[in-house]
Amino acid sequence: MKQLGLRGRVLFVYLLLVMVGLGGLGIRFALLQRQQIIGEAEHHLELEALLLNSVLEKPLEHYLEGKLSRTKLRQLIVNLTKSLDSQITILDISGNPVYDSAVEIDQIPNQFNQTEVQLALQNQVQHDTRFDPVTGVERLYIAILIKEDDEEYLAILQLSVPTDPIWTKIRQAWSVVFGTVATVIVAVVVVSLWLANYILRPIGKLQQAATQIAEGNFEQKIPVTGSDELSDLAKTFNNMASQIKRMIEQQQQFVANASHELRTPLTNIKLRVEALQNGALEDTEVANRFLAQIESETDRMANLTRSLLLLSKLDSGVLNLKTESVDVCAIIKERVEALTPTAQAKNSTIRFDCSPNLPALEINPHQLQQICDNLLGNAIKHSTLNCQIHVSAEQAGQEMVIKFADNGPGIPAEDIPHILERFYQVDKAHTHSHKYSGAGLGLSIVQAIVKQHQGRVDVTSRLNEGTTFMIYLPLG
Ligand SMILES: Nc1ncnc2c1ncn2[C@@H]1O[C@H](COP(=O)(O)OP(=O)(O)OP(=O)(O)O)[C@@H](O)[C@H]1O
Ligand SMILES: [Mg+2]
Repeated sequence: MKQLGLRGRVLFVYLLLVMVGLGGLGIRFALLQRQQIIGEAEHHLELEALLLNSVLEKPLEHYLEGKLSRTKLRQLIVNLTKSLDSQITILDISGNPVYDSAVEIDQIPNQFNQTEVQLALQNQVQHDTRFDPVTGVERLYIAILIKEDDEEYLAILQLSVPTDPIWTKIRQAWSVVFGTVATVIVAVVVVSLWLANYILRPIGKLQQAATQIAEGNFEQKIPVTGSDELSDLAKTFNNMASQIKRMIEQQQQFVANASHELRTPLTNIKLRVEALQNGALEDTEVANRFLAQIESETDRMANLTRSLLLLSKLDSGVLNLKTESVDVCAIIKERVEALTPTAQAKNSTIRFDCSPNLPALEINPHQLQQICDNLLGNAIKHSTLNCQIHVSAEQAGQEMVIKFADNGPGIPAEDIPHILERFYQVDKAHTHSHKYSGAGLGLSIVQAIVKQHQGRVDVTSRLNEGTTFMIYLPLG
């Protein structure tokens, strides 16, 4: 059954059902027809017998009374039976033939013990089928009694017809029935083959496309025709293919960006090490400067690798750190205090407002710290000197809203939609910020963490006026 494939199996079951159903119906119908045809023949014979009976009653009576000569009676019977198809035999009460419309009576044996004769003597009309000993042909027999005034038996009337024409009729009827059944079955086979093909063709295409995708050919699209379940499947499949394609491209882009970001500090370090080897060590001042630069590049690389690692952990869901009920204000306050010296170094200030009676938030505390560090870090790092940073936490409906606002240089409108993308950094020429390190991963880490907590990130920014990042996290 398995080797048949889907098409074969559907067809097999379908045909089996049709064949059993139609075959059963055909056989039943054929049997009914046979019964009907034989019944008709019997009925016909019976009618003839009754007719003859009523016609012959009087002449026979007269003959037996001696009022009618034997020749006259014979003549009468011959005339009467001429027009009938059946062979007519008249038997006396003991079953001896006295007249036959077809053969000489001395060829006919005594009929007393024949079924139909016995039954006729009991006043029943019933047929019998047997081979005629004279001709060797199978015949259908019936017999009835000829009575005088319903009292005295005069004779027995035996009628018979060959069964051959009846069988011919039955065979004809059967060939019609079975011919029809066979035609229907052939039609069913053809239609179901076509149907199976029609239904399964899209599945075949789907399979081909899936194979192509498995081989890395994501351009493969399945044509969507119609509006049935299969075309829905094709649509879903096409969607999935483009999704996979996009994901792979993103992944490749990510790896390319990451390698690029790592190569820059590595090159810087290598250049300085070479310079030191080639004699720069002699000059203490230059050597110290190079060493300081090497240290900062190393820091940059360390930061970068930390960010990359964190992102990839967030992506893979490995970082399914336990959440707990967290006092948001306490954590933000702690991070604000930790970063205040960095802000002060740029002559900037950080203010924090926490609305009273804030409910606890279900979150991983380390990840909340990470969000604060990245957003506060950005506000400090990307702003000019003398900047005011304002952090606040409040409840809005079923959400906790944490805002990080600054009055720094702002983000150009065209960059805002991309700001949360990995490695995205505003074109440095357009901003007032100059020398800063970073890879453009901080905001994407914030985004990944917030998403993991079913929250969202929102940005509003105006050039030269400032930027506000808003974190919405669901409560409870
Ligand atoms: N508060 C802000 N004011 C102005 N520009 C900002 C601010 N925050 C982010 N940006 C812009 O968005 C870009 C992306 O920020 P993101 O934190 O993702 O990367 P980064 O700070 O450059 O590097 P990293 O955070 O990985 O060290 C920044 O390069 C900067 O151009
Ligand atoms: Mg940043």
